[in-house]
Amino acid sequence: MLCLGIESSCDDSALALVEDGRILGQALHSQIDVHALFGGVVPELASREHGRLFPRLYDSLFRQTGVSPRSIDCIAVTRGPGLLGSLLVGVSFAKALAWALHRPLIAVNHLHAHLLAAGLEHEIVYPALGLLVSGGHTHIYRMDGPGAFTQLGVSIDDAAGEALDKFGKVLGLPYPAGKYVDEFGKNGVVDEHLFPRPYLDNDNCDFSFSGLKTAAAQLLGPQVSLRFSKDAHSLQPTWSGFPETDRRLADLCASYTEAVAETLRIKCERALRQHAESGLSWGSLVLAGGVAANSRVRSSMKRLAERFELPLVVPSPSLCTDNAIMVAHAGALLYGMGRVSELSFAAVPRGQQVPDDYVSKVR
Ligand code: KG4
Ligand code: ZN
Repeated sequence: MLCLGIESSCDDSALALVEDGRILGQALHSQIDVHALFGGVVPELASREHGRLFPRLYDSLFRQTGVSPRSIDCIAVTRGPGLLGSLLVGVSFAKALAWALHRPLIAVNHLHAHLLAAGLEHEIVYPALGLLVSGGHTHIYRMDGPGAFTQLGVSIDDAAGEALDKFGKVLGLPYPAGKYVDEFGKNGVVDEHLFPRPYLDNDNCDFSFSGLKTAAAQLLGPQVSLRFSKDAHSLQPTWSGFPETDRRLADLCASYTEAVAETLRIKCERALRQHAESGLSWGSLVLAGGVAANSRVRSSMKRLAERFELPLVVPSPSLCTDNAIMVAHAGALLYGMGRVSELSFAAVPRGQQVPDDYVSKVR
């Protein structure tokens, strides 16, 4: 079964073709350069860029794969959560295509798609504990199957990626700063007392990262000389020959990233334990989203998986960040289960629940 996936929830415009779990190709354009000038995603610009890019990406995808649009079996599109204007561009494009090609449409939850993407490369053994960590979201799910997600925890304020990006911004690193904070921190020494592991003094699996950012801002505030001043493009993630202030920054990046990684690990461990105590036998641990590329997050989760004797399933880096392959894959799985969406479905902005309002396909 051949599924066309469409992604436009934030600042990546992408279309991809997946056939029976095999990736045929993807046309993806990251808008980072446009938004980097403003230090963050500008929603209005993102929507306009999606509108400008989609027709060309569509042509490029079918040219590069040699596939004919007529051979698509179904169309999957990210429905939300995300930036509403951006989502509307992808959703309208998908609806128009579905209508013109007479193909079924499957509206996909972007967060579920991130986690299901892990299954393209390695088997997800259900029930799985899924940790989705990206620039906009931090969610823990119990995954009982491709269409059966139960949310166990969520960030009540900033997402983990946002906390890393904002910390990097305070340091003067370019947007999105998460990967620089990770790279610089690789050679740093962790001081466990520098930053708190926030929002642990409760019995839930939710997160709160906004205090961490404030702790960092207070620590760094008066120490202006501790900021990176180099041109973004000349930043080097190596430390040989760097002056002492830069070494101190490596330690700060390492300590901050470790605080985020450990907080994620502790809440996931809590979720694993709470459900295991009520008799559940977990099958695997899934880590996905842009922040899954973070080296400390990966190693914390790896240690956790080993302790629970579970396989850790993580998509390769290009499948961790936003892409349309994950959307096509999730759509194909849902279509395989007989689920389709009505053409009237609405896009869902960030902060709202994505409804599970599929209808059965006529067989
Ligand atoms: O999943 P994604 O591409 O977009 C969202 O849906 O948000 O995730 C982007 C996030 C950004 O916050 C970016 O800084 C972060 O992923 N990121 C990283 C790394 N690579 C990307 N954060 C930490 N370490 C990395 N190596
Ligand atoms: Zn995402």
